[in-house]
Amino acid sequence: MLVFVACCAVLVTAGVAAAANGGFTPETAHSPNAARISTTYYVILGFTAAIFVLVEGLLVVFAWKYRSGGRARSVDGDQVHGHTRLEVIWTVIPVLILAAIGGFVFYKLPGISDAPAATDAVHVTVEAHQYYWQFNYPNGAHSINDLVVPAGRVVDLTVVSPDVIHSWWIPALGGKIQAIPGKTNHTWFRADKPGTYVGQCAELCGLYHAAMRARVIATTPAEYETFIATTAKAGLGRSEFTGVCATCHGMRGEGGYGPNLASNPLLIQTAGLTGIVRNGRGKMPAVGDTWTAEQMQALVSYVRAHVYKGAPSGG
Ligand code: CUA
Repeated sequence: MLVFVACCAVLVTAGVAAAANGGFTPETAHSPNAARISTTYYVILGFTAAIFVLVEGLLVVFAWKYRSGGRARSVDGDQVHGHTRLEVIWTVIPVLILAAIGGFVFYKLPGISDAPAATDAVHVTVEAHQYYWQFNYPNGAHSINDLVVPAGRVVDLTVVSPDVIHSWWIPALGGKIQAIPGKTNHTWFRADKPGTYVGQCAELCGLYHAAMRARVIATTPAEYETFIATTAKAGLGRSEFTGVCATCHGMRGEGGYGPNLASNPLLIQTAGLTGIVRNGRGKMPAVGDTWTAEQMQALVSYVRAHVYKGAPSGG
């Protein structure tokens, strides 16, 4: 019987293992804090898997061994009462297991939550909005939905929200951190190598919560410097339209959940467009309530050149 149970367990776990991640295990960690979260996950998984196999195995063994075997259903088994040694054992062992798990988690916790001291840390503010992410870099540059950082350096994130509660989460680079209106949260990561790491807002924040995807693009230091010095600024209007407006209005402003605005004269009225982007209207959130004049101008220019009346190369 035990062999049968063991075979079943092997078959079940083999399927999961063959599916690589399978959704049961953390993503491969690419930051020290994410690695500590994964380690913690596997330690707890080890304890719980062993307990599961033990309990379910005994259940099957006992169900077999103490089956009725033709006795009348009304016959009682032997009555056992007050087995002190057994009660001490099944109290002390779980306490020790929980203490071991708790001790391990508290040992790992500081390395997960606290950014390591680094003189060359990059400080970025993450602004969560309905329904996009805005990143503010130390030199005043902005980007939308894509956070560009140098690989190998500590990135210290200040996480805020001007509207509702969102949650920043790039699984390969660490745990979730909530973006809460009126509160400033902090998290960090250090991408171990250049690459693109994807994530998603992890807090139901409204209708287009699912559209709040984010990417961290880890680059070489030189590429990062170029990005914040020139690339981000050059692409700002485009990224604002495609990352913010197009979520509801479509990539060419031709409509989606939000109304078609490609031919709306408001698009080329600077004051009107600025007002609606800053303050929202009807079901449209105040997407640009924190935008600088420069950001607003970038959108106005982009929309005028690329979206209004299906201007060439729109989107
Ligand atoms: Cu923002 Cu869900």
